[in-house]
This record gives sequence, structure tokens and C-alpha cells, in this order.
Amino acid sequence: MYPKIKEPAFAEDVLYGLKLTPKQLLSKYFYDSLGSELFAKIMRMPEYYLTDCELEIFEQSAAEITTAFNTGKAGFELIELGAGDGLKTKVLLEYLVNQNTDFKYVPIDISEKAVKGLQQDLKRKMPGLQLDGRVGDYFELLAGINNSKRKIVLFLGSNIGNFSEHMAIEFLRKLQGVLQPRDQLLIGFDLKKDANTVLLAYNDPHGYTAAFNLNLLSRINRELDADFQLDNFYHKETYDPKSGLAKSFLISKKAQEINLRKLNERIVFDKEESIFMERSQKYDLSMIETLAQKTGFKQQKYFFDQRKWFVNALWAVDK
Ligand code: AVJ
Repeated sequence: MYPKIKEPAFAEDVLYGLKLTPKQLLSKYFYDSLGSELFAKIMRMPEYYLTDCELEIFEQSAAEITTAFNTGKAGFELIELGAGDGLKTKVLLEYLVNQNTDFKYVPIDISEKAVKGLQQDLKRKMPGLQLDGRVGDYFELLAGINNSKRKIVLFLGSNIGNFSEHMAIEFLRKLQGVLQPRDQLLIGFDLKKDANTVLLAYNDPHGYTAAFNLNLLSRINRELDADFQLDNFYHKETYDPKSGLAKSFLISKKAQEINLRKLNERIVFDKEESIFMERSQKYDLSMIETLAQKTGFKQQKYFFDQRKWFVNALWAVDK
């Protein structure tokens, strides 16, 4: 397994975000080991419909999806950005392995624990699988992609929805830039739907999503010697069904001061002041096609679940 390319700029990003008005933190920092475990719990709860939809797509359409990969008999690398515990990808991997397809699976994740766990699990379940996991964030790892092999990139789970439109475009352009004309991208998008369904997925009765958000404050306490008291904040989700934008916030229950002792900094909160924690964009097909077209990709094929709540879009590189 490859080592981390570089330590992410956690301290700078946190301080910068907490000094902004309104305050914000970056959701990529949710995924320390506890954060990755909490996200695995989120994925398994029924309210978080995204997982079930995407699993259904892979279960129903594995054959169709893999024939749409234009790899022919040639070997290829299957690179997954943000692989996590690989819950959904395993369905596709099993199908490919059973077909005796010549490919190497390259799962990439920001959580070292997630990559290690996934590798162990896959080695046990699919001993024939060629495997080469890597730890790092997407942008860092794009730089390390090698050009000689035919590639299918997987970017599932509507992970793209965490990016602002601007960042999504920048990221997809960079990705397109390191791909060859024969390569493809299978990218998952959560689709616009009934507002209450979305809100329930991100404001669940089990409290996992709240814990997932609050865990970033614990991480700041641990890594920056800060003194956030978690029960002085509550989690709040908003969703605008027209734009498709879901946002999560942590809100300060009272006026308070937080010390970031390692950085010698103090952050002041008013009562009800929020920290913007995460966006989870929901899409419609015209937004998806615009995104493809703005970033040098060509929309090739859609794979939907029965309810059409989610779509995996297969994009070709348009060079
Ligand atoms: C992993 C980014 C797809 O935004 O739906 C789940 C993360 N946050 N519940 C999402 C998440 C709260 C998730 N993604």
C-alpha cells in the first residue's frame, strides 16, 4: 500500500474556516477513524436511502454497466475515489471477478483505516482480485495517476455533492485532464426528490448524522488541543428542493469561547451562531449533463434505481 502523499493542512483549514463569517468547516475532515465508522453506520440505516439505491443499481445492472465499459478484452485499472468500506463496489467487483475480467482495483480514500479494512476484507472475500489501495485526498491522488493503463474511474455515492459547483467543476476538469480519450468515469448522483425524504436522510432519528458532524469537533479537540464541548452544539439540516441543495450545520446553544490551544487562538460564538459543516447537492439530469459538458466529458449512459431517486452516470472523456 502506498504511503500518504502529504498530511492535509488540517490546522490551517480549521482555523481559516472558523474565522470566516459565517463559520465553516470542511466535510473531508469528517473521515478520521471514528468518522469513517459513523459514516458506515449512516450508510446502513434505512433513512439514508442513497446506499440502497446505489446497491440496487449495481445488483440490477452489473452486467449492463460492465458491458458499457469500453475495455473490450484489454486489461484496465478500476480506480475508486473515496472508496470507504466498498459496500456497493463489492457487488461490481464480484461480477467482474466472476467474469474473469483482467483488471486491477485501486481504492483511494482519505481514511487510512478505511483503506486498510477494505483491503483486508477484499483479500479474504476475493483472493483472485488484483488490489492496490491508496490513502490521500482526491486532488493529491490525481497527480499520481499513471497514463499507461486504460482506466475506469468510479466516483460513487454522490460524493461529488460535497463540492460547491465551482469546486466540482475544477475537480472534474482536473480529473478529465489526467484521463485518456478511451477512459471512462462512472459517477453517482443523488437526484432531487421530496424534501422530507432528503431531510430524514440527513437528520436521522438514530442521531448518527449528528454524531458524525460533532465528531469533527472532537477531532479538533484532539488534534489542535481545543476545548469544544459537544453538548453545547446541536445539528441542523436544511434542504431547498428547488436548487437541490442540502446543508448541515452545527449550531451553538449559547454564547461561548473556544480555545484552540495548539494554535494559540480563540474563537467566539454567539448564541445560535452556526458552523456550516457540509453540503450534499441533489441533482436533476440537466444539471448532470451541464456538468459533464463543462468539464470535458460526454454523458454516455444512465443507470437508475427503480424509484429514480439516484443515478450512476457513465461518462466518456470528450477530447
Ligand atoms: C459521502 C458525501 C455522499 O453527503 O450524502 C452522509 C456524506 N453526510 N450523511 C452525503 C454524508 C451526512 C455523504 N457523502
